[in-house]
Amino acid sequence: MTDNGTPDSASLTVRDNRTGQEYDLPITDGTLRAGDIGKIKVSEEEPGLAVYDPGFTNTAACRSAVTFIDGDKGILEYRGYPIEQLAEKSCFLEVAYLLIHGELPSKQQYDAWVHEITYHTFVHENVKNFMHGFRYDSHPMGMLMASVGALSTFYPDAGNIKDPAVRHLQIVRMIAKMPTLGAWAFRHAQGKPYVYPDNDLSYTANFLSMLFKMSEQKFDADERLVRALDVLFILHADHEQNCSTNAVRSVGSSQVDPYSAVAAGVAALFGPLHGGANEAVLKMLRRIGKKEEIPAFIEGVKNGNERLMGFGHRVYKNYDPRAKIIKQAADDVFEVTGVNPLLEIALELEKIALEDEYFVKRKLYPNVDFYSGLIYEAFQFPPEMFTVLFAIGRAPGWLAQWLELVQDPDQKIARPKQIYTGDRELTFTDSAERWA
Ligand code: CMC
Repeated sequence: MTDNGTPDSASLTVRDNRTGQEYDLPITDGTLRAGDIGKIKVSEEEPGLAVYDPGFTNTAACRSAVTFIDGDKGILEYRGYPIEQLAEKSCFLEVAYLLIHGELPSKQQYDAWVHEITYHTFVHENVKNFMHGFRYDSHPMGMLMASVGALSTFYPDAGNIKDPAVRHLQIVRMIAKMPTLGAWAFRHAQGKPYVYPDNDLSYTANFLSMLFKMSEQKFDADERLVRALDVLFILHADHEQNCSTNAVRSVGSSQVDPYSAVAAGVAALFGPLHGGANEAVLKMLRRIGKKEEIPAFIEGVKNGNERLMGFGHRVYKNYDPRAKIIKQAADDVFEVTGVNPLLEIALELEKIALEDEYFVKRKLYPNVDFYSGLIYEAFQFPPEMFTVLFAIGRAPGWLAQWLELVQDPDQKIARPKQIYTGDRELTFTDSAERWA
């Protein structure tokens, strides 16, 4: 038996009706090998059969031991630990260690890890200078994307991805510097001076300090807010082969340095169907405006004129387990900040959608982004910052997946096939003749 209970001899017998030939295709880990399918040919000269799968909805691109998801049951585990337990009992830096190293740290390992991360939070002064060069109204996610990519120019040694010590150093640097870059992108839009990291503070408290500190000697964030943001980082830390992780792996497969690969992940996360969804949720809630408008909005969704942002997921066909934890975190945050008036609309929208046949039939449930925007707004983050927060949380996941990729002997440079639909063998006509 294999790990997932398939008999060792499992195979699929297919008959190619073009040739009458039968093939036995081995089944391993519940998958067929694309290479075996490629052996099905009409003739030796013809290319073999391929699968057509836009968006990779049913294609495994790697073997991974980082994150397990059972979308039908609403299960999410990092390195085997359920997300509910990690959110309740762990902290973001310990979860980051777990993702990167594959197991929980001893006390000594944890202390060393926190020390390393803490002492790499500063960035080169030139980073500050080039961040100053962005327009006053630049989207902080664009600034983050550019500055993460730019780190590759500060650490040319990062290209030596075969050296484990070099890899480790870049991972530490990246996790450490993401909050600094994110906070500075935020301060930039506000025209406020950039705040340097405070090494006496925890990872998340330091981030809040770099965001909100003004003239006080020390920024003293409410512990409940620090904890809530830490939990949000944990919830976002990895999500197996999602769009941005796929971007990191795809770009990383060219053996480029990890800053360039992670910058691609930040770019992918920027899109409204991925990390940008929580910003879109808030815009949607604001547009709906009051409870009485919800039925008309839902009708618009059902007619295909709208999309209920923060609902539905490629993988979860059940309540996203992260959304449940976020709802609890929202209560904790609102205790400090007061309730966000949009919460009432969100709760009512969720109630109606969960009962409506359109959503029930399509198994559309709230995802991680449905409530996270409301919390971020309570922190007084502008919507443009939401995806930056997601990116800071996701950095350890991207890096764990990148590390796995560069050590996986099965991996090759990403290079999907296409089905060519264009013209062939046209004859070029000279421009003088075409434009005459
Ligand atoms: N509102 C209305 N209808 C929806 C929605 C939605 N949010 N999501 C899916 N559907 C419908 C869709 O129209 C389709 O209906 P039909 O079968 O009649 O054509 C059916 O449900 C299946 O949808 P799909 O687009 O094929 O599903 P997908 O797996 O390609 O898309 C998704 C997943 C997340 C892109 C999509 O559900 C969506 O656009 N949701 C809103 C955006 C959002 O909240 N994104 C955040 C995802 S969670 C954060 C992360 O992990 O990145």
